[in-house]
Amino acid sequence: MTQDIVTKIAVLGGTGNEGSGLALRWAYAGYDVAIGSRQPQKALAVAAGLDELLGKELVHGMSNRDAAAWADIVVLTVPYAAQAAILEEIRDVVQGKVFVNVTVPLDPDNVRRARMPAAGSAAVEAQQALGPDVQVVAAFQNISATYLKEVEHELDCDVLVCGNDKEAKRQVIKLARAANLHAWDAGPIENSLVVEGLTSVLIHLNITHKAKASGIRITGISR
Ligand SMILES: NC(=O)c1ccc[n+]([C@@H]2O[C@H](COP(=O)([O-])OP(=O)(O)OC[C@H]3O[C@@H](n4cnc5c(N)ncnc54)[C@H](OP(=O)(O)O)[C@@H]3O)[C@@H](O)[C@H]2O)c1
Repeated sequence: MTQDIVTKIAVLGGTGNEGSGLALRWAYAGYDVAIGSRQPQKALAVAAGLDELLGKELVHGMSNRDAAAWADIVVLTVPYAAQAAILEEIRDVVQGKVFVNVTVPLDPDNVRRARMPAAGSAAVEAQQALGPDVQVVAAFQNISATYLKEVEHELDCDVLVCGNDKEAKRQVIKLARAANLHAWDAGPIENSLVVEGLTSVLIHLNITHKAKASGIRITGISR
């Protein structure tokens, strides 16, 4: 346990590879974590699986909306096509909270080719949909799910954290550290278009080099 005051984190779509991996790392670090799903039973089953890996009963499972209402920090890890509907579903229960967007607007016709929505990025769309009282932070879009469940494995990829609220970014940088990752404040929410676009570059590199988890590192600044 590394937390003094336990923060409650909901991972919506946390039944998937990316969300369940992040959820496991945060539960391992001592956060109180809930998996959200369209089907509460599925969330409970995934939570039980993570508890088995942890050797303790730590992870909750519930509907996406209940998880968003329960948490202090809400993390979205669903396919981009599902983002707009889920934002609409949880809008009222996330007001005043930090909302972390991991979702990447991949082009279903070619995931190796970056394609951004008209608003600029999925995270900018989330900020517009949720309104100014939600602190939207874009982060973790370049972290492959491949090794997330190996909780002690230090991933060779930095986290670029974009958002308009400094305190919200500070909290998300702390979450990255808890997940054994190095994170940087990468500027305002608009910069998330670069970070989301990088995911297509990394997918291209993975395919070309038969790799599982290529990543990016910031150089030239001491850590
Ligand atoms: N996988 C990676 O390595 C990776 C890396 C970086 C970023 N990302 C991004 O993170 C997000 C999640 O990735 P993932 O690989 O975990 O995705 P995933 O396994 O395909 O989906 C995650 C969860 O989203 C929910 N979902 C799927 N379709 C939905 C729909 N139509 N409406 C509502 N919910 C739906 C499902 O949960 P329920 O069925 O339980 O509701 C599913 O378990 C994506 O945007 C991806 O681009 C992924």
